[in-house]
Amino acid sequence: MPAQLRLLIEVVARACKLISHTVGKGALDNLLGQLDIENVQGEIQKKLDVISNDILLEANEWGGHLAALASEEMETIHLIPHRYPKGEYQLVYDPIDGSSNIDVNGIVGTIFSVLRAPEEASGREVTEQDFLQLGRNQVAAGYAIYGPQTVLVLTVGTGVFGVTLDREMGSWMLTHERMSIPVSTREFAINMSNARHWAPPVQRYINECLVGQTGPRGVDFNMRWMASMVGDVHSNLTRGGVFLYPWDARHTDRAGKLRLMYEANPIGMLVEQAGGAATDGLRRILDITPTGLHQRVGVILGSREEVERITCYHREDT
Ligand code: AHG
Ligand code: MN
Ligand code: MN
Ligand code: MN
Repeated sequence: MPAQLRLLIEVVARACKLISHTVGKGALDNLLGQLDIENVQGEIQKKLDVISNDILLEANEWGGHLAALASEEMETIHLIPHRYPKGEYQLVYDPIDGSSNIDVNGIVGTIFSVLRAPEEASGREVTEQDFLQLGRNQVAAGYAIYGPQTVLVLTVGTGVFGVTLDREMGSWMLTHERMSIPVSTREFAINMSNARHWAPPVQRYINECLVGQTGPRGVDFNMRWMASMVGDVHSNLTRGGVFLYPWDARHTDRAGKLRLMYEANPIGMLVEQAGGAATDGLRRILDITPTGLHQRVGVILGSREEVERITCYHREDT
């Protein structure tokens, strides 16, 4: 692994340790609740959204491994100040995923994606356009899940492994050697309250799951929804399952809620590296050409058999 990439991953891991500690303080340090600031997503920022964003930015900007950073919580890219050395990589991240869970002590996480800075960018400033790279070109991807345990799940393109934070030692310990998503599942994760906005193929798939063994699937299904993509995806990676945040059928551009660059792409890389599949319903997530830093897409990912079935229903519907 190139030295700068190793350094980048070590710095992100160290930042996630601090985010874990900070999230764990919650009300003790008056860290719950929101600010009167709306981010570029149109969401009211939580205190921990901004604090975690700044932890990752301040940890990474001086180390000489990055040319620029981008985040859900920043409207545009953050260039490395000229007083610091400029590196070969670009980091794009979701500092707190599942922010609506913060005040109710639910699962939250951090998601990150590593891209190469274009060769020719060494002689000029990096631009937002330099971030709009295909997901299949990511160098590395990972997430930290802040639950009963804090676990960092990572891929550099050679499989998926997980390390758990040993709080007494302050060290990450290898606990998940090679994570692999079971090919089939009887568990789906979706926010049912959006059912009226799903396209027909998703309606068809979910209805078949709900009918259970008396219907075309012949088996009963279970449902989960953690309101944190990291939480639901960690469950998929651990025991199988399919996660759906479908595109909204009211949008002709097939936009969904989740963001391509720092949610769908990194999670899509992890899921594929673990033997699963990730599409927007029709297109492989990692093959979607980005058009904007905060572009939204539909997301259907997890156990390969179920994702392929749902994608097949979409193809029949076109
Ligand atoms: P974020 O907190 O980074 O804005 O992301 C939240 C996302 C994702 O984590 C989760 O699966 C989804 O939003 C939950 O959406 P609903 O609240 O609409 O269920
Ligand atoms: Mn998120
Ligand atoms: Mn977020
Ligand atoms: Mn958000």
